[in-house]
Amino acid sequence: MPPTATKLRRVSAIDDLRAAISQARGDGARIGFVPTMGALHQGHLSLVDRAREESEFVVMSIFVNPLQFGPKEDFSRYPRPIDEDERLAAEAGVDLLFTPSVDAMYPEGRTVSVVAGEIATQWEGAVRPGHFDGVLTVVAKLFNLVQPDVAVFGRKDLQQSAIVKAMVRDLDFPLAIVVAPTVRESDGLALSSRNRYLSESDRADALVLSKALKAASSAFDSGERNGAKLEEIGKKVLDSVKRAEADYFAVVNRDTFQREPEARKGSAVIVAARIGTTRLIDNIILGENDSN
Ligand code: PAJ
Repeated sequence: MPPTATKLRRVSAIDDLRAAISQARGDGARIGFVPTMGALHQGHLSLVDRAREESEFVVMSIFVNPLQFGPKEDFSRYPRPIDEDERLAAEAGVDLLFTPSVDAMYPEGRTVSVVAGEIATQWEGAVRPGHFDGVLTVVAKLFNLVQPDVAVFGRKDLQQSAIVKAMVRDLDFPLAIVVAPTVRESDGLALSSRNRYLSESDRADALVLSKALKAASSAFDSGERNGAKLEEIGKKVLDSVKRAEADYFAVVNRDTFQREPEARKGSAVIVAARIGTTRLIDNIILGENDSN
C-alpha cells in the first residue's frame, strides 16, 4: 500500500470531527472537502485529487442521506461497502474520513431544513420531489461541521452542483465550490455507485445515455444550434434501446437549468433514464474540449 494509506483517520462522532479539523486548521492547513454517499469509485477519487490541489487537509464524508431519497427509492438497498471505501479513501490520500450515523446527523426534534427553490423544480427535482431539499440540508450541515475552504463536487450531477453553488451564493457560505469533470469508463459510461445494480445486459443498454449525449454534441459541433432539434437527435438514440425509459433529455443553461431553445457553447445536455430498475443520469457540455 502507498505510504498515504497509514495517514487516514476515520471518525463517526461530530465532536471528534470538529476536534480533528480544528487541529488541522491550527496547523495552518486549508481544508478541502469531498462529500459522498460512499460505494466509492474513480469518480469520487478524482474529486479527492482535486481537493488535494486546493488544500493541505482533505476531509471526505460518507453518509447515505435518508432525506434525499423518496419513499420508493433505493435508500435501504444503496450499497454500503464501508471497509472497501475506507481502504480506497486511504489510498487516495484522504486525511479524515467522516462516517456519521443517521442518528448523529438527524437527532430527534429536528425541524429546520433548506429549500432548494427555482432550479430544483425541474428535471431531477421534478422526477424526485424533495430530493434537492434533502441534498441541500445535508450539504449545509456538512459545510457547517467541516467548515471547509473549498468543497469539490462532480459535474456528473450537474443540477446538484448548480443548486449547491446557488445555496452557497444565496446563503453566504464562506467557501469555494469546485466542480470537477465526469470520470467515465473507456466506452463512455459515466461512473456511478448505482452502476453496481446493472446486470451485464443492463450495462450494455446503459451505454445509450452517453451515446445519446454524444450524438447531440456531435450535431452541435457540426453546426446545429436548435435546442429542440438537438433533443430530437438524442431522443432518437435513446429510443433505439427498448429497455431504456427516458425521464428527460434536454438542452439547458448549465447554471439556471432553464431550457435553451438556441444552444450555445457551454450549454448543457442532460439526460435521465431507467435501465430496468436502475435510474441513471448523465450530461455533457456543448462545444467545449473538456465536455465531460
Ligand atoms: P454521491 O452520489 O456519492 O456523489 C458524491 C460526489 O461524487 C458528487 O459530487 C458527485 O457528483 C460525484 N461523482 C459521482 N460520479 C462521478 C463521476 N463519474 N465523475 C466525477 N464525479 C462523480 O452526490 C452525492 O453523493 C450526494 O448527493 C451528496 C452530495 C454527498 C449529498 O448527500
